[in-house]
Amino acid sequence: MAKATSHWVCQNCGSAFSKWAGQCTACGEWNTLVEEAIASAAPKGLGSSTSRAGSARGRLDFVDLAGTSDAPPRRATGMAEFDRVTGGGLVEGAAVLIGGDPGIGKSTLLLQAVCRLADRYDAVYVSGEESVDQVRLRASRLGLAAAKVKLASATSVRDVVAAIDRADSPDVIVIDSIQTMWLDTLDSAPGTVAQVRASAQELIRAAKRRGTSLLLVGHVTKEGVIAGPRVLEHMVDAVIYFEGERGHPFRILRGVKNRFGPTDEIGVFDMTDRGLVEVPNPSELFLAERRGDVSGTAVFAGVEGTRPLLVEIQALVAPTTYGTPRRAVVGWDSGRLSMVLAVLEARGGLQFGGHDVYLNVAGGLRVSEPAADLAVAAALASALAQEPVPADAVLFGEIGLVGEVRQVGQTELRLKEAAKLGFGRAILPSGRSRRGGAGADLLARTEIGHVRDLLDLFGDAQPNRSRGRG
Ligand code: TYD
Ligand code: MG
Repeated sequence: MAKATSHWVCQNCGSAFSKWAGQCTACGEWNTLVEEAIASAAPKGLGSSTSRAGSARGRLDFVDLAGTSDAPPRRATGMAEFDRVTGGGLVEGAAVLIGGDPGIGKSTLLLQAVCRLADRYDAVYVSGEESVDQVRLRASRLGLAAAKVKLASATSVRDVVAAIDRADSPDVIVIDSIQTMWLDTLDSAPGTVAQVRASAQELIRAAKRRGTSLLLVGHVTKEGVIAGPRVLEHMVDAVIYFEGERGHPFRILRGVKNRFGPTDEIGVFDMTDRGLVEVPNPSELFLAERRGDVSGTAVFAGVEGTRPLLVEIQALVAPTTYGTPRRAVVGWDSGRLSMVLAVLEARGGLQFGGHDVYLNVAGGLRVSEPAADLAVAAALASALAQEPVPADAVLFGEIGLVGEVRQVGQTELRLKEAAKLGFGRAILPSGRSRRGGAGADLLARTEIGHVRDLLDLFGDAQPNRSRGRG
């Protein structure tokens, strides 16, 4: 039988098939199979017979776990919001993938970062999407025209690898974007899984060899995965997402994987006409447009990584005009909203049945902490009762299915930030929380153990009186 020279590869999950199909049977995505040439003969597998013989021949030296290793040297940009997310700067020879929607500001961020790095290091910016003139134009708009960055417009991995391998190899190299890079040894088009994977592999190998810090830009598909896609995430040392809502100026840099540092840190930026500006105190920013005395809003005292972050949760509850009420969420998990609604109905006696429910995290932030449950519940109950949550209160706590309010971590950090921003009261889970610790007397505490206690704070949201005042 003739050997197949091409196969169909899912651009979402990387699975390969011998025939085209409308849907990938591995990940379930539609219209993601693209024909790609089979690169080369598969490497010889380690058959059982060879491995038995191999163990006699091969040698693997083990070392003790106990011992000292130096912390890897870091190349910091000096942009605190960027360095925090990378864990203190770029590591020599390590590859970082920066993913995000097209147009969210990845090129702007990396151009700014690489210009700061160029003050102390040999830094190179390779664009496969824009000409050198376009990059220069952008840099001068950002007020960075004098930075000592070297530019190139290139898409051939062979050329880039040759540049990394030169005697004067750069300390830091930005590739914008990995989807534009291609290897002439593969027949597939740039942007396909095979090209993205092989290009990244070559670049990462070259960077490791020379100790160059590699920053790869990756566009994200509308499903929210880095196109080309998960196959890249396990090849690089760190994965960072740059996110934000279109129409909002705030941008969040969020670490999702880091072999050399923490993964839950965020960096906050403001997109201005002079580029991205760091936001050292994001709580102030996210609460800037809050109006205290309206129903349907509550302030959540959250924590992102090591940093406290206060955000406003807004809810709107309106009589439905459809057969099935609508539930719409921006910035929070919709499954989690359904759960909180169900608990408020079943354990708190509220009735949302005939109502559309809209929930929004103000400012375009995405909140993923379960600790936000209590603030969400308060915003929902407040919207239904048309009674404002006390304007000087912050809330946090996880809600369980029995209606119990559960403890969450880092209470002191949350309370301190709330006090710093002028709040006078915290509504938080009752129980084991340490009293008398640092920051304990900063705020008045209302401790609650069950969602019913929360509803008691809203006079009219009692069971069977859910219609609100006329
Ligand atoms: P860009 O960095 O090109 O996005 P990406 O590389 O992620 O595709 O950013 C594009 C957007 O940023 C564009 O809509 C204009 C906006 N922008 C500003 O608001 N201010 C600026 O100073 C710059 C350079 C861009
Ligand atoms: Mg770009």
